[in-house]
Amino acid sequence: MPVVVVMGAQWGDEGKGKFVDLLAERAQVVVRSTGGSNAGHTVWAGGRQYKLHQVPSGILYPGTLCVIGHGVVLDPPKLLEEMDRLASQGVDLSNLRISGGAHIVFPFHIRLDEAEEDRKGDRKIGTTRRGIGPAYMDKFARVGIRLVDMLDRDEFLPKLTALVEEKNRILEKVYGLPGFTVEEIAEPYLEYAERLRPYVANTVELVNDAIDAGKNVLFEGAQGHLLDIDFGTYPYVTASHPIAAGAIIGAGVGPTKVSRVVGVVKAYTSRVGEGPFPTELHGEEAHRIREEGHEYGTTTGRPRRIGWLDLVMVRYACRVSGITDLAVPHLDTLAKTGLPTLKVCVGYRMSDGTVTREFPVGLKALSQVEPVYEELPNWEWSAEMSTARQYDELPEGARRYVRLIEDVTGVRVSILGVGSERTQAIYRSAIF
Ligand code: IMP
Repeated sequence: MPVVVVMGAQWGDEGKGKFVDLLAERAQVVVRSTGGSNAGHTVWAGGRQYKLHQVPSGILYPGTLCVIGHGVVLDPPKLLEEMDRLASQGVDLSNLRISGGAHIVFPFHIRLDEAEEDRKGDRKIGTTRRGIGPAYMDKFARVGIRLVDMLDRDEFLPKLTALVEEKNRILEKVYGLPGFTVEEIAEPYLEYAERLRPYVANTVELVNDAIDAGKNVLFEGAQGHLLDIDFGTYPYVTASHPIAAGAIIGAGVGPTKVSRVVGVVKAYTSRVGEGPFPTELHGEEAHRIREEGHEYGTTTGRPRRIGWLDLVMVRYACRVSGITDLAVPHLDTLAKTGLPTLKVCVGYRMSDGTVTREFPVGLKALSQVEPVYEELPNWEWSAEMSTARQYDELPEGARRYVRLIEDVTGVRVSILGVGSERTQAIYRSAIF
């Protein structure tokens, strides 16, 4: 039975939420195993909008087991707030399970994230300021606190005391900022732990049992390939592994178990945060795409930077993650902009004049590349586009666009999105 990873093949915000939600309908288990509250998935279902940050999107289907794996960094007050909001929208949370191995984001991580960004000034990363980097730093420095520790007062208090002392030294001495008292963190966090206790489970066993039992298991990626700590545009990246391999590490599942990897590629490119962006657009073209595509951050509300589709980048993501299928949302958005010509980057001209499809490792080289574009005429937007449910109902121009994606990446486009609602999708090949 299929074990499917859905991941972003660009800089995040590709519209993964829609496809995870669609595929979750056929999954018995949905797993979120990387990143933290920096992620934001917007899902439209039944005319209602749901904003998800830490809870897997599968939660919108009653009966689907939703797992937060140990690779996630959990922000307890934000998670509980999200759970309360979902419950008030009528969503049943009884199928949520959380790994005790997930590391905790504390208020000092958030303050340190902000302090570090402010200190960097022009060189800032443009983080979501959610404390993600500092929390993963503690994890890798082997001083982090995990949910399982927080559930045990005697384990928790000495660990927290040591961590607070260390962070206060940095906050006060390096940044001249106020520190925290152990008490102001310990009591509320012990309460959060009690509220989360009923959801804590051995998720490694749960997920592997589900796979062994032949259930459909879906891994819901967060962020995107180019934000990967190893394979992204370092240092303008997040602190985790949004690539396909990250999903299985963060859940405790072996690579031999994965049957399909779906890479989500928005029909154009967007990014929040700083760093080079070869196909970036400014002015009217960017404005039209941003407004039609509602390109404002789900987590931070920031306007996203906009650019043409960059297939050099997508090809790179396909290689690193072994993507077997592409899912392409926002074809309708491009059409609705009314821009007469659409450009797609199919190669990079390097500073020595050579043209390549290889994604450069160094940021300096990336900031100097000149995109080589293929120009395609926009297809006329019509009601049929958003009501199309079969590939051959799409305008020829849109199909040409899809063929170009397949030609450059060598990967088939199996699902297309033609609107924000669950039903507005075209399947060319079944995933589950
Ligand atoms: P951090 O993950 O908050 O440390 O931010 C590091 C970089 O990743 C910044 O450029 C963020 O804007 C970006 N980022 C983090 N999470 C997301 C996401 O879910 N979508 C898009 N960009 C993200």
